[in-house]
Amino acid sequence: MEITLEGKVALVTGVGPNIGSGIALALAKYGAKVACNDVDEAAIKACIARIERNGGEAMPAPGDVTDEETVKGYVNDILERWGRIDILVNNAALLGGRGVLDESVEFFERAVRISALGYFLNTKHVGRAMAERGIRGSIVCISSSNGWNGSAGVIAYAFNKGGVNNFVRAAAMDLAPYGIRVNSFTPTAPNPDNPELLAELAAKGLPIGGVLLAPGRGGAQLGGPEGGEPWRRPARWNGPRPPMVPMGTTGTPTDIGHAVAWLCSDYARLITGTDLVVDGGARAKNFAYIPAAPDQIAGPLPVIPLDVTPPFEP
Ligand SMILES: NC(=O)c1ccc[n+]([C@@H]2O[C@H](COP(=O)([O-])OP(=O)(O)OC[C@H]3O[C@@H](n4cnc5c(N)ncnc54)[C@H](O)[C@@H]3O)[C@@H](O)[C@H]2O)c1
Repeated sequence: MEITLEGKVALVTGVGPNIGSGIALALAKYGAKVACNDVDEAAIKACIARIERNGGEAMPAPGDVTDEETVKGYVNDILERWGRIDILVNNAALLGGRGVLDESVEFFERAVRISALGYFLNTKHVGRAMAERGIRGSIVCISSSNGWNGSAGVIAYAFNKGGVNNFVRAAAMDLAPYGIRVNSFTPTAPNPDNPELLAELAAKGLPIGGVLLAPGRGGAQLGGPEGGEPWRRPARWNGPRPPMVPMGTTGTPTDIGHAVAWLCSDYARLITGTDLVVDGGARAKNFAYIPAAPDQIAGPLPVIPLDVTPPFEP
């Protein structure tokens, strides 16, 4: 079985150096031409350069995904240049935030707008472009483990990712008569593997992976309570933790890229209205089950690399 996206055109929103860039690179390596969207022009340039040094073809699709005229504009630019769009990956999002006692109206509205309006407008205009041309394309909406389970400190993010999950099912029904498929993909705190991003994180003295789910560490990464009022209580367990992921790792953006590329291929022709998760068993886990110690599990097969960029050496 050889997965190929040869002859297909893709649009990926939010091609920042972590997951968006990983998905855009994978689609290009599997043969698609890729239009790269972001509000940050430097992120677009870096993603296009990464695709091109890997032998792929890419174009910029700059602008804010929440603005309808902007979305129509870059969709038209892609159609003018490449004549079609077969794949849309809705990925742009605003991460971070606070818990329900502390979140601001401004952040909540902005975070929800980017996922809600951004995913809707891109699906609407790319969906129309596909339907008008009889293209039986694939639309993938990037969700999050926070869309399926609760965590403290991310109330806006949890709200919008939960919405993404049912948006996918409803849009899948709207577009099924056209042969257009709509699914979500759920990343679960993947370990960044873009060498440029790893170098940037290391230069800033920031941890380069595995922090959220690693055993032994406290869990203070997802936003905690603000303020020192006497009634405040801790949001979560902050002591040493047991292992969290049954297979020992949730993987990398490269793992996400392979899976999204397959979901956009013709092999997945009847998969619509559902979710694909690549997380080493993290979401399937019963709440009371604690996985075996990392040194006692075999771990996954080695990842199949996609990027020719020399790996980051700490
Ligand atoms: N990083 C994780 O651990 C994780 C876990 C689960 C799900 N996700 C999801 O994966 C996706 C990518 O995550 P990431 O970690 O690469 O995020 P990121 O913050 O590194 O990248 C998001 C990109 O979206 C862009 N963006 C933000 N607002 C935009 C707008 N209005 N218009 C266009 N572009 C905009 C940003 O400039 C940025 O480059 C998101 O949907 C996120 O919710 C991430």
